[in-house]
Amino acid sequence: MKTLVLANQKGGVGKSAIGCQFAYYLAQQGKRVLFIDLDHQMNSSKALAKNGKVTSAELTSIALLGGQLDALPAASFVLVPGDDVLSSLERQPGEHNNYVNALKAFLEKVDGQFDVCIIDTNPNPDIRYAAALITGQFLLSPIELNQEAIDGIGGLLNHKRYGYRKIKAAINTQLELIGILPNLVEPTPFQKGNFKQLVEPFSQLMILIDPEKKRFAYIPTRTAIAEAQAEGAYLADMKKTSARDAWREIKPSFEVIAKRMALEV
Ligand SMILES: Nc1ncnc2c1ncn2[C@@H]1O[C@H](COP(=O)(O)OP(=O)(O)OP(=O)(O)O)[C@@H](O)[C@H]1O
Ligand SMILES: [Mg+2]
Repeated sequence: MKTLVLANQKGGVGKSAIGCQFAYYLAQQGKRVLFIDLDHQMNSSKALAKNGKVTSAELTSIALLGGQLDALPAASFVLVPGDDVLSSLERQPGEHNNYVNALKAFLEKVDGQFDVCIIDTNPNPDIRYAAALITGQFLLSPIELNQEAIDGIGGLLNHKRYGYRKIKAAINTQLELIGILPNLVEPTPFQKGNFKQLVEPFSQLMILIDPEKKRFAYIPTRTAIAEAQAEGAYLADMKKTSARDAWREIKPSFEVIAKRMALEV
C-alpha cells in the first residue's frame, strides 16, 4: 500500500478537494483506496460520504489515533472519517507518541487490503499533521499562487519541528515530497506573473508533466471542482460540459502524480 499525505500549513488551498478527486480517480483506475481524514473540519469526510462508491468505516480517525485497530469494511473504497474533536489531541502531549505509533500500526494492519491510502490533514502543523508525515510515504502540497502561500513553502520545508526536511532527515527517511501543486490557478496576467515567480526559485519542487516543454502540473480554478466537492461527485462522472472540460484540464496532473507514486494507471 502506498501512502499519500496532502499537507500545507495554509487553509483553503484545495487539500481536501484534490485529495478526494485524486482518490476517486485512483478508484476509477481499479485501485483499492483507503481515505483517512485527520481534519476536524471533515470537509473530505462530508464529500466522500455522499458518494455512492465510498463505504464509511465506523471507526473514526480519532479512534484510530487512540489505538483502535477495528477491522475496516470489506470494500474497495473506504473512508475513515474525521471527528470534530480531533483538534483536542494537541492538548494531550503525553499521548503524542502513542498517536503516531497507532497510525503506523493501523497502516501496517491494512497494508494488504488497499493499494493506496490518502491522508488529508488539517492546515496547521500539529500532532495530526506530524503523525501523517512521520508515517506517510509521499507528500503532495497544494498551494495557491499568492505571496503568502509562496512564503509558506518555507514552513512546509523548514518548520523547526514538522518541516519536511526535518522529518525526512530525523524520523521518516522514506518520505518523498512529490511536489507543490498550484491550485486555484487563474489565467490572469497577475497569476501568470506569480507562476513565474514561483517556478523560478522553487522549480525543483514543481511537478513536471512534460520535461521538454517545461510544463508543470497545476489545477485551474473551475466552479465544477467546487460543485463536485459539494455533491460528493467525481468530476469525471459529471455530465456537464464545464465538468468535462475541467476534468480534461486536471487529468494530466493526476496521471503524473500517480506515476510518481509508482501506481500503474
Ligand atoms: N481548483 C478549484 N476550483 C474551484 N474551487 C476549488 C478548487 N479547489 C478547491 N476548491 C474549493 O475551494 C474550497 C477550499 O478547498 P478545500 O476545502 O479543498 O481546501 P483545503 O486546503 O482542504 O482547506 P482546509 O485547509 O480548510 O482543509 C472548497 O470549497 C473547494 O471545493
Ligand atoms: Mg481540507
